[in-house]
Amino acid sequence: MLISEDDALARLKVGDLVALPTETVYGLAGLALQAKTVRKIFELKGRPSSNPLIVHVNDVSGAKNLAEFNDLAIRTCKIFWPGPLTIVLPKKDLIPLEVTAGNQTVALRAPNHPVFRGILDRLKQPLAAPSANPSNRTSPTTAAHIAELFGDKVPPTVDGGVCTVGLESTVLDLSSDRPTILRPGMITRKDLQLALGEEVLLAPHIIQGIDKIYQTTGAQSPGMSDCHYAPKTPLFLHAGTKQLLESAELSREDLIIVCTAEEKNIIEQKDFSCLALSISGNGEEIAHNLYSVLIEADKKKSRRLHLIFSQKPEGQNRAVFDRLNKAAVRSII
Ligand code: TXA
Ligand code: MG
Repeated sequence: MLISEDDALARLKVGDLVALPTETVYGLAGLALQAKTVRKIFELKGRPSSNPLIVHVNDVSGAKNLAEFNDLAIRTCKIFWPGPLTIVLPKKDLIPLEVTAGNQTVALRAPNHPVFRGILDRLKQPLAAPSANPSNRTSPTTAAHIAELFGDKVPPTVDGGVCTVGLESTVLDLSSDRPTILRPGMITRKDLQLALGEEVLLAPHIIQGIDKIYQTTGAQSPGMSDCHYAPKTPLFLHAGTKQLLESAELSREDLIIVCTAEEKNIIEQKDFSCLALSISGNGEEIAHNLYSVLIEADKKKSRRLHLIFSQKPEGQNRAVFDRLNKAAVRSII
């Protein structure tokens, strides 16, 4: 059901959940300071209670009573907020442990979308908001995606158009000595290092995720147990058109997803069904289209999805690769 901003505000005030647009993906929002409401978010998403939520605010002043800000955190927010960057800091008592999955840190973000910002402004309270999808499934970048993903459990949704970024925020841990990226996003390690003048680390799980794929050709990666962002149709990753076309895995009932117009040409010449994530292979364009193409691909009810990703997993493509790696049942890169 689509609702107005006024209706969303009224529902949020009484502890109900609504789906709201952000510039990254749509969020399933509820009052962050109310444990009962936070539990409803976990329940509707079917999310394990061990996976903490991001708390959304409009600016640093709205976050200072929620977390212990250090100088670097203040500097980071001045540069990157509002925008697709989440920071992790030691939490203050006001934040319920339900939000942080029992951790003593809290993730904070100021989204850059007029609808979300307008609601935060009028509500004068922070909102917890994970991506508005059932746990492990593809994240929504339009209001229609939310209805498709949740079926009869769809939360009331404010339609704010297509999300401009299309991929979840970069998560940066600023709670310890060294700034560390926990989830890659469109704000890259290089962007952060240049702006902050400090070395920024990548969490070991990000490096291992990429290494694993490049070292274990044809091996299971990653296990279905840590499957995330996944379409219902099994998704396989490939390093190039040649490898895929020569692969015994490929059948006529499969759908192929590519990153460039050139790859699309090659695939269509061989008479396979094909969807393209971008024309040029540019990371920003691929990220913007990724989830909507995966959701569209799922509707075609193919036997399998094969995605050709020949880009280097660096810069903005690192974030795309991170999501693909988790969404795929198997990678043949
Ligand atoms: O772009 C986004 O960040 C979107 C929009 C709606 O704002 N939200 C989003 O939320 O992607 P979610 O719940 O799907 O992902 C939150 C991520 C998870 O990887 C979670 O583990 C991490 O943030 N996270 C949350 N709190 C944390 C904490 N205290 N320490 C470390 N990681 C945390
Ligand atoms: Mg999510």
